[in-house]
Amino acid sequence: MAKAKNCLACHAVDKKVVGPAYKDVAAKYAGQKDAPAKLEAKVMKGGSGVWGPVPMPANPQVNAAEAKQLVAWILTLK
Ligand code: HEC
Repeated sequence: MAKAKNCLACHAVDKKVVGPAYKDVAAKYAGQKDAPAKLEAKVMKGGSGVWGPVPMPANPQVNAAEAKQLVAWILTLK
């Protein structure tokens, strides 16, 4: 689904592209209880300043249920 939703245009599982590697995202948020909710909102609305100056644009093609699935998947990639 990450591919279908165009996430992989800017992200890869194990290396930095435009955005951070999903493995690094998983490592950063490991064990944080509120991380999924925060990341789901960011996936839908976009945001910046966590990994560097490059912002992630909003992804309006992703709905809440899909964001939940994508974030759950990313957080398993340790
Ligand atoms: C145009 C490029 C681009 C696309 C498309 C994109 N991202 Fe990102 N993403 C970024 C950048 C750049 C960052 C780093 C933002 C920052 O530093 O806060 C990021 C950060 C993230 C983070 C970490 C957020 C944080 O606060 O730590 C997650 C999770 C993420 N992206 C998931 C996704 C998913 C899922 C999709 C597909 C729906 C997606 N991204 C599509 C560029 C992109």
